This record gives sequence, C-alpha cells and structure tokens, in this order.
Amino acid sequence: MIKLTAVAGDIATSDADAIVVNLFDGVTSPSGATGAVDRALGGAISALIADKEITGKQNQISMIHTLGKLPTKRVIVLGLGRSEKFNVNVVRDVSGAVARYLRRIGVSRAATIAHGAGIGGLDASASAQAIAEGTALGLYTFNQYRTNRTDEPDNELAMLEIVEQDQVRLSALQDGLAKGVLLSEAVEIARGLVNEPANVVNPVRMAEVATDVAKAAGLAISVLGREDMIQYQMGAMLAVTQGSANEPRLIVMEYQGDPKHPENNLALVGKGITFDSGGISIKSAGGMWEMKGDMSGGASVIGAMHAIAALKPKLNVFGVVPAVENMPSGTAQRPGDIIRAMNGKTIEVDNTDAEGRLVLADAICYIKQIKGAKRVVDIATLTGAIVVALGHITTGVFGTSQAMVDAVLKASESSGEKMWQMPMFDEYKRQNRSDYADVKNTGGRPAGSISAAFFISEFTEGVDWAHLDIAGTFMAERTQGHQVKGATGVPTRTLIALVEQMASA
Ligand code: BES
Ligand code: MN
Ligand code: ZN
Repeated sequence: MIKLTAVAGDIATSDADAIVVNLFDGVTSPSGATGAVDRALGGAISALIADKEITGKQNQISMIHTLGKLPTKRVIVLGLGRSEKFNVNVVRDVSGAVARYLRRIGVSRAATIAHGAGIGGLDASASAQAIAEGTALGLYTFNQYRTNRTDEPDNELAMLEIVEQDQVRLSALQDGLAKGVLLSEAVEIARGLVNEPANVVNPVRMAEVATDVAKAAGLAISVLGREDMIQYQMGAMLAVTQGSANEPRLIVMEYQGDPKHPENNLALVGKGITFDSGGISIKSAGGMWEMKGDMSGGASVIGAMHAIAALKPKLNVFGVVPAVENMPSGTAQRPGDIIRAMNGKTIEVDNTDAEGRLVLADAICYIKQIKGAKRVVDIATLTGAIVVALGHITTGVFGTSQAMVDAVLKASESSGEKMWQMPMFDEYKRQNRSDYADVKNTGGRPAGSISAAFFISEFTEGVDWAHLDIAGTFMAERTQGHQVKGATGVPTRTLIALVEQMASA
C-alpha cells in the first residue's frame, strides 16, 4: 500500500515529483495554498481560470509544468466542485481520481494539501482520513493473474505527503491518515475476496483467509464443518451445500471489546455463497460469472473484523460467515424439497436459487442460540429485485428494529456508502406462505427484496435485527473516485462505523 504521511511546511517549497493544490468551482482568484502557488507561478493558475481552462469542476485535473519556478516539476490543480456540495465524500473521490492520474503520469512521490481543512470547514483528521481512503482505495488493483502485462504503466505512486502549514494540526492529520489506512486495509481484504474467482475462493479457502485475518488481529475464531452442521441440525445450510463438491464452512470470528458484559454484543452475519449457479433452478449463462461475488457480504464482515480488532471499541462483536457453494448436481436439493432449519422451522424450497436466505437462516440461529447474540445485522447479495429498485448506487436496508435500521443509516452517512430504508409492512409477509411447510423460500416477483427480508425475519425472533441487501452495490461497472471497476468492498466501512457508533452510545 502507498505510504501516507503528514509533514509541516509550505507546499510551494516542496520538492516532491508533483504537488496537488485545489480549487472550488467558480472561484476566480485562488486563496490559501493554491493562491501562494499561483503567485509563485507568476499568476499561471489565475490566468488559466480566466481562460476557463481551469474551472474547479469536481474531479477536474489540470497540470502545470513549473519550469524551474518552484522546486517541484509539476503543479496539479484539482477541482473540488461547488463549495455548497462539498463534504468528506468529495475529498475521498477527488483523492482517488488524482492518485490514479499521478500514477499514470509516472509520479512516484507527491505532496498535497489537506483538501477542505481550510475554508472547506472539515476537521483536519476527517480530511486526512478521506484522503487516505480515496488514495489507497482509488489505487487498488487486482491484476495478479495477468502475466506479461504491456498495456499498463508499471509506475507505482509510492508516497503521498500532506503538507500542512499549521504545526498544531499535524497530529490530527496523522491520526486521520492512520484511520484511513486501516479502513482501506479492511476494504482491500473484502475486495480481494470478492474479485478472486470461485475456483480459488471456495468455502474452505474463505475460512483460511478469515483465520489469517483473525490470527494477525488477535481475534478468536472457530470454523464449523459439515459434521458440526449435522450436529446442530442446520438443515437449511446443509441443503444448499449438498449439491457441491466443496466442503461448507461456518466461520465465527469473535472480538471481545466488553468481556464483562457479554450481552453487550452485535453479530455481523455475511452471506458467503462462494459461487451461486442457482443450483437445480439454474441461472442463465449471461453474467453468471458475477456470482463469484455472492460472498460479498461475508467478505465485508471479514474485512470489517480486521479494523474492529485494531480500533478496540467497547462492544463484543461476532463476525459470522456461512460459506457454501450453490451448485446443481445429482446430490443437489430440488425445488419442492422440504427442509428444517436449526430453530426447527420447516422450509419449502420453491427455488434453489433463493439459497442466500437459507444459509443466513441457520447462521443467525447459531449465533443467537449458541453464542447469545442480542443484535444482528446481516449483509447479503440477496436479490435481483433490489437492483431493480435501487440500481447500483444504493444499498437497501430492512429491519424489524427501527433503532437498528437508524443506526445503520447513520453509519452509512459517515462512511459515504449510500443506503436507503425499504418498508417491511406486515402485508408483504404472506407472500412467503407455503402449502406444505412453515414457510417457503420465495415470495414471487412483486417486492422480491421485501419478501426475502421477511423470510430472514422468520429466524430473528428475540434479537434486534437489520438486513442490508447489497446485490446492487457489491460490484462497480466503472472506475470513478475511490471506486475501481470490480468489487467495491461495500459495506465494510459502514460496518466499522456502526460498531464504533454502538460502542460509544
Ligand atoms: N445471489 C442472488 C442475487 C443476486 C442477483 C446477487 C444479482 C447479485 C446480483 C440470489 O441468490 C438469487 O439468486 N436471488 C433470486 C431469488 C429468487 C429466486 C426468489 C433472484 O433475485 O432472482
Ligand atoms: Mn441465488
Ligand atoms: Zn445468491
């Protein structure tokens, strides 16, 4: 990962390969650090603004060669957009965009000012955290399987330093950078797991990665196999795995932040379907490869646990991942099968492609019944219907506890990962009625995300529960800001913020 530092000084005197200053949209005579650099360049920036070549539009990047007027060779003017729309999310995005630009033009050491920490009104630490997240995550690559690459530059942006005039703010900047780096590591763990193909990340491998993360962070972890699942009568998880040649795993990571009060806990339960072919209710071929990412919820939980262990919040946190592959075969479950989950409820399997809710059912029963979880947030690439409702921008939030839903929404505001509450009116519940069992695993086409949430709610009695459907947000179609094409790592940063928020409440 790129090295990020904060140093005291005047950015105009920096001898980095390039320096980054900024401009709000509509500003005609720059002030602050941008103004100082403008004067040192003999008014080059203001002249380009007057010519409308530099506008300050968000993510606009303009490069000026200094030709000996400054110790650095290049000045980058980065557009921050309109000042009334400015916030920490803008800083994260512009930082990602400019980091990729610097890498592309061959810069290995750059300096920047702390965007928004002056007239932008942000805390120095919040600005630095967003710069760290945007830079580290915007530079993220997943190309270890591409041998002999010639189409991409091999330059690495190795170092970015924030240059701050005011010595007093240095420690806040350093704290913000450290937190941003930690959160970026968490997101990178999640993105890596999602981007890896399903022939590499199968349930067994996912449990190994979780074990490595736990060991490095000093967390307890237990991994249950098929025999344990049989013993606990996890009929729903066993039914999904029975068609696959890959052994299932139930991963349970434990962070003890308040050991004296075991009931002060939260379970993060992430769907870990390492490949979702649909099973006997098989999916069509187009885009099926994306189902290697059907363990994104679980990946975000494993990533979040990495950061939670380091942040030491006063809350006990379980990270739970039912890791299973959903395949068609001669041993696979069939539509019409009736199975029994760990809590004794019987389920008619109307469609084997509604497998996520089945593995979540048993994982939630386990963490409730065996580990005494009091609050549960599950995260799942659960339904195509949520993509229809909210597209690829927003994660759908559901829950039977409005306090939990509100807590998730608040955490998402601080992370910048967009979320929106979906309704759980009782009238939807009847869609899951079965003629043969206690409940059916599909609720028909209308409001498919809501009936899916109601199915999960059959297994959340006695706990405060919220559910995040990330089927629209786990993968990005294009590179923009801190996001790069491929796995997003959503909602790793929100989960971390949620835990911190609950610990301090
Ligand atoms: N993993 C899929 C949902 C999904 C769709 C995730 C698109 C990411 C992108 C899930 O297991 C699934 O297949 N859901 C079915 C449920 C249906 C059979 C009731 C769906 O949404 O079509
Ligand atoms: Mn499915
Ligand atoms: Zn699935």
